[in-house]
Amino acid sequence: MQTATVPFRAPAPIPHTKPLGFAGFVWTASRNPIEIWGSRAFKEPWLRANWLSVPTIIVNDPKAIRALLVDNARNYAMQPLRQRVLRPMLRDGLLTAEGELWKRTRKSLAPVFTPRNIHALAPAMAERSRLFAEGLESLPDGRADIAFQMTLLTYDILQATLFSNDITGEPKEFAEAMELFLKRMGRVDPLDILDAPAFLPRIGRLLGQRSTNYFRGVIAGTMERRRRLMETDPQAAPNDFLTMLLKAEGLSASEIEDNIITFIGAGHETTARALGWTLYLLSQAPEEREKVEAEIDALLPGLPDPATWLDSLHHTRAAFEEAMRLYPPAPSLNRTALEADRVGDMDIPAGASVLVMPWLVHRHELLWENPLDFVPSRFLPGNRESIDRFQYLPFGVGPRVCIGSSFAMQEGVIALALLMRRLRFDYVGEKPPYPVQKITVQPRGGLPMRVSRR
Ligand code: HEM
Repeated sequence: MQTATVPFRAPAPIPHTKPLGFAGFVWTASRNPIEIWGSRAFKEPWLRANWLSVPTIIVNDPKAIRALLVDNARNYAMQPLRQRVLRPMLRDGLLTAEGELWKRTRKSLAPVFTPRNIHALAPAMAERSRLFAEGLESLPDGRADIAFQMTLLTYDILQATLFSNDITGEPKEFAEAMELFLKRMGRVDPLDILDAPAFLPRIGRLLGQRSTNYFRGVIAGTMERRRRLMETDPQAAPNDFLTMLLKAEGLSASEIEDNIITFIGAGHETTARALGWTLYLLSQAPEEREKVEAEIDALLPGLPDPATWLDSLHHTRAAFEEAMRLYPPAPSLNRTALEADRVGDMDIPAGASVLVMPWLVHRHELLWENPLDFVPSRFLPGNRESIDRFQYLPFGVGPRVCIGSSFAMQEGVIALALLMRRLRFDYVGEKPPYPVQKITVQPRGGLPMRVSRR
């Protein structure tokens, strides 16, 4: 008789049971914000706190999330902390834009992200993933930090889909400058948490100005060269994001530049994290991994068009979605209430900080059965329909929902299919990876894995 195996319990900080105190709070929030949550945060529909004198409401109830982020979204602005951290880097890009600028930019960008356009990028995603899998096969000792490797892969895919690898700078120098830029972006300065005035220098932010200038310079040069090509020989211009953006109506050159940088900032590390965590979780759940491998082996030969994989590879997609439930790459949606509001039994004062945390909602005891376990079947057709739209939020919800979600989903499934068709990934770290929230949720110390040919 076969016994059902116990699902894998995904490693996470153990919720504390005693208050952290002021110093402990600031220290934890600047080191690893997902450690600030006590056990109540995973049980209650909502919580109220007074953080650094700001009334703060943490909302877990799907109905209330809908009321805040959809029905009355206009009353909830992006939080100043996030803007302060990201705006110097992303400037007028969609993620950091507000008010009229946001509205106009979202309208201009919407036609770029149509299903047709995203499908058109699938062959480039597949080509880069295939080449990447080949490269991983010839690692000198068969081992690699897969967390880092996935950032290389998603960088490669972004380069191919944004610019068709046609940039004006040296590829290696550009990649290094981008890495420094993203590192700066991810650094939350304790001064930001304490709400210090903007004129106080943030040491982390001062580093790497030169590389940012270089990075922006290459993007501006690449745009200019493409614009000239589109004027002189439109047929020769590749059908990538850059061409689509240059054709979009209503955006100035500097706004296009800001949005390209925003796509890199918002789409590179997030997708890499989701891929890394999926490969890790599957390595710890061999039965689930077998289902994914069997599906890929059975279906890929009959599906030449990679744009169809997202809707056909159910187990692969379910594993990816379940990994984003347990380790949401963007673990917090932070807003500030512009005016006082009442939602259910919650009184929200004007100026309150309102937090919808996928990290909490996705692990909430009232919303999920065995919330800490890796159970991809939750997301298989037939089960997935019973998941409330407002209890699963890896891409957010409402007017500011991730504009790149279909790009990321398509990329995730294509990359997993092509990596796992060829290779098997086994975690070889001495200890389980420990999740740390920087801007994304990342494994401290990486994901050391043995990569072998299947
Ligand atoms: C697994 C990958 C990804 C995850 C988990 C993710 C997650 C999110 C989330 C949660 C938001 C909403 C933030 C909020 O409401 O506060 C968001 C917004 C955004 N994302 Fe993504 N994202 C991913 C990939 C991408 C990609 C590939 C792109 C671009 C190509 C992208 C571009 C954006 C932009 C521009 C916004 C701002 C939208 C707006 O404010 O109108 N993201 N993302």
